[in-house]
Amino acid sequence: MIIDCDPGHDDAMALVVAARHADLVAVTTVAGNAPITATTRNARIMLDMLGIDVPLHQGAHQPLVAPARHAPDVHGSSGLDGADLPEPSRPADSEHAVDFIIETCRATEGVWLVPIGPLTNIAHVLQVAPDIGQRIAGISLMGGGTFGNVTPTAEFNIWADPEAAQIVFSYGGKLVMSGLDVTHELQATPERIAKIRSHQGQLATVLADLLVFFSDGYMRFHLNMEGGAVHDPCAVMALTHPELFIITPERVKIETAGDRTRGMTVIDRRGHRKPAPSNCDVVWNVDDEAAFDVLIEAIGYFSK
Ligand code: BDR
Ligand code: CA
Repeated sequence: MIIDCDPGHDDAMALVVAARHADLVAVTTVAGNAPITATTRNARIMLDMLGIDVPLHQGAHQPLVAPARHAPDVHGSSGLDGADLPEPSRPADSEHAVDFIIETCRATEGVWLVPIGPLTNIAHVLQVAPDIGQRIAGISLMGGGTFGNVTPTAEFNIWADPEAAQIVFSYGGKLVMSGLDVTHELQATPERIAKIRSHQGQLATVLADLLVFFSDGYMRFHLNMEGGAVHDPCAVMALTHPELFIITPERVKIETAGDRTRGMTVIDRRGHRKPAPSNCDVVWNVDDEAAFDVLIEAIGYFSK
């Protein structure tokens, strides 16, 4: 898989589980939680801490149409506030993420694209090289859901670039959507953060500190949560650990126009006997205890 990310506290966790359980072909970055220079820097740091040598390519610095907007309230101005991060040692590779994804997916069939930030890079890929839609295994993304987090109806990754999301949701190939319905079930409770910290070592300590910062923010803003929602690993684990999830085929469209609904994933749940064809496998629920154990184990694996 290629992870297209905007680290991001939960992106950092997704990178760990992908490094542990997937054949991670490359990491690409996009502007989202923070500006592109910050998300790329954070990805460089994560690859350093994991000790893995995979290609890392920087991508789009702004959405297709919308102005660039970030999430400092959730992730801090660096995109990864809350921990003492080491200086990155490796640079990003020089190619643009979009060119890299196109070349890689033309050279090798069956790659999964796993976007866990705004969908800008992936939309550029599908626009510039529509053949890629038939060459990849599919796209497993984190975004959307039946409720929002930036607005009552829109989740951040879709809200940040709805025009890109519209391209991705109509590309015609396999699409898996882990939205807020499932990701809000995977919470970084104090007990789980303590288990991460008990692994000791730099990676475990940094991730535990990051999750404390991230969870504190969530707890301040939300009722009925015991920790921050660790969204992005769901898009990875829906592929690597599908047995932990409840997933159903649905018809999902992106709202780009509404005053109050721009960025909404409109899921047709009318329950018709003869529904229109589905375009998306929606991930609804997770065995959260088992899934978080996968995350804790993966962090332990790279902390030895
Ligand atoms: C998504 O937005 C970002 O803040 C997170 O990294 C995640 O990808 C959740 O809405
Ligand atoms: Ca993200």
